[in-house]
Amino acid sequence: MTASIKAWQLFWLLAAVISIAICLGLPFADFHAFRGTEFIVLYSVFCALPLLLVAFTASSLVVLWPSRTARWVLVNRRYIGLAFAFAMVWHFVFVGYFMASFGNRVRWFDLTLDIVGACFLLAMTLTSFRTFSRHLSSSTWCRLHKTGIYTLWLLPTYFFLDDYLETLQPYWLALFAVFLAAGTLRFLAWKRRPVVLRSAA
Ligand code: HEM
Repeated sequence: MTASIKAWQLFWLLAAVISIAICLGLPFADFHAFRGTEFIVLYSVFCALPLLLVAFTASSLVVLWPSRTARWVLVNRRYIGLAFAFAMVWHFVFVGYFMASFGNRVRWFDLTLDIVGACFLLAMTLTSFRTFSRHLSSSTWCRLHKTGIYTLWLLPTYFFLDDYLETLQPYWLALFAVFLAAGTLRFLAWKRRPVVLRSAA
């Protein structure tokens, strides 16, 4: 099944699934209230994050547990990453409305991280297309995408740990653990690669 869906077909399928999931969340949002709008801001990012995790761990899964599915994920990582960017557009739309309606209540440090993450996301999205990537050498392209994916992974990891430390709610700890596990997979895969190939991971 997996082999038959690929490339742009996969992107549009994921974009449709994300959009349907967002629409299903809309009845639970209340755009007149702070909490009701915050709900959809968080809900939209939760719809996007599974795609980030898949794109982030794709290369590690091939190294640690090689299989047809792992290879299919790696081959289609570009489209999964682009679907993540698409899903984040929903987040940005809701964030824009949230801030315009209720002002900025995000701490400056978190906001700075958000903006850095958004800049990486934009740069990675644009350079996923030949029109932009042809202006970069392959090593610059690799550095950009590697720094970008680690930054995008670090953001939710840090936010969830911070939420847990503030509220001591176990679900924030569980979310932090999921992201930490993804980071651990990257580390284990990096360790398993021959030393000469590590910088290309
Ligand atoms: C201009 C860029 C961005 C802005 C202004 C922004 C703004 C926001 C706001 C207002 C919230 C709700 C905070 C709350 O009330 O709890 C939020 C949540 C969140 N955003 Fe974004 N965001 C941006 C980019 C990103 C990026 C690039 C990521 C990367 C994955 C991201 C991941 C998250 C996560 C994980 C949450 C949930 C945080 C938590 O539970 O504490 N955001 N964002």
